[in-house]
Amino acid sequence: MILAEPGAVAAARTSQSLPGRLPGGGLAAGAGTGRLWSGMERQKWLAERRAALAAAYDAEAATYDDERHPWDMQRAWVARVLGLIPPGGTVLDAPCGTGKYFAMLAGAGHRVAGADQSAGMLARARARGIAFSLQRTPLQDLPYAARFDAVLTIEAMQHIPPEDWPGVLADLGRAVRPGGLVYLTVQVLGQHHIQRAFESLRARGLPAGAGRARRGRHARLPLFPGS
Ligand SMILES: C[S@@+](CC[C@H](N)C(=O)[O-])C[C@H]1O[C@@H](n2cnc3c(N)ncnc32)[C@H](O)[C@@H]1O
Repeated sequence: MILAEPGAVAAARTSQSLPGRLPGGGLAAGAGTGRLWSGMERQKWLAERRAALAAAYDAEAATYDDERHPWDMQRAWVARVLGLIPPGGTVLDAPCGTGKYFAMLAGAGHRVAGADQSAGMLARARARGIAFSLQRTPLQDLPYAARFDAVLTIEAMQHIPPEDWPGVLADLGRAVRPGGLVYLTVQVLGQHHIQRAFESLRARGLPAGAGRARRGRHARLPLFPGS
């Protein structure tokens, strides 16, 4: 899905709000604020959303591990990833949440570090007594360079706004040693969710449309319904 450039959004100002939560619990752009902005206003809004998300996870931390799905499926994948990390490696789980995978990582003989922006989730992770380092930090400010044999980023990228993806991906890559591994999951929405989102946006008069990324001077053009 491609939303209009900030300029086009400003031209299409609306008093309507966008959906607040993505399926699976993530916060969607525009959530709950009733307006779309550009520039510094958007930065301020994103900072507010990030703080609200951290607070939501703080509140959820005590019961977070009760949810089995998609943990069971992820465990199978993490087991496969473990087979690719050299024995005695050092692994960063970021964001680690409650540290669900710490025991698996340590059980395979690796040293474990975790990072997350939610103090509540980190407190649960700390209670496991497994990680040698736990850092409270947003993914957008990861401070590591060539420190780890592998980084796991599981069930988190849905929380990262599109403009932060390049920086976050670069920092995750920077955190591993040369030849290190980054394991990252992304959520794939069913077509009906995407369709519903478009219908909702168009009903509000917003210039949202599906399209393919293009190269050259068209690359940053907003795509409108029907184009
Ligand atoms: C769905 S949980 C996944 C946690 C863990 N990776 C797992 O699979 O159990 C999402 C986690 O991402 C954290 N998070 C969300 N946005 C973040 C951000 N920008 N920087 C750091 N952590 C973030 C939340 O605090 C939460 O712990």
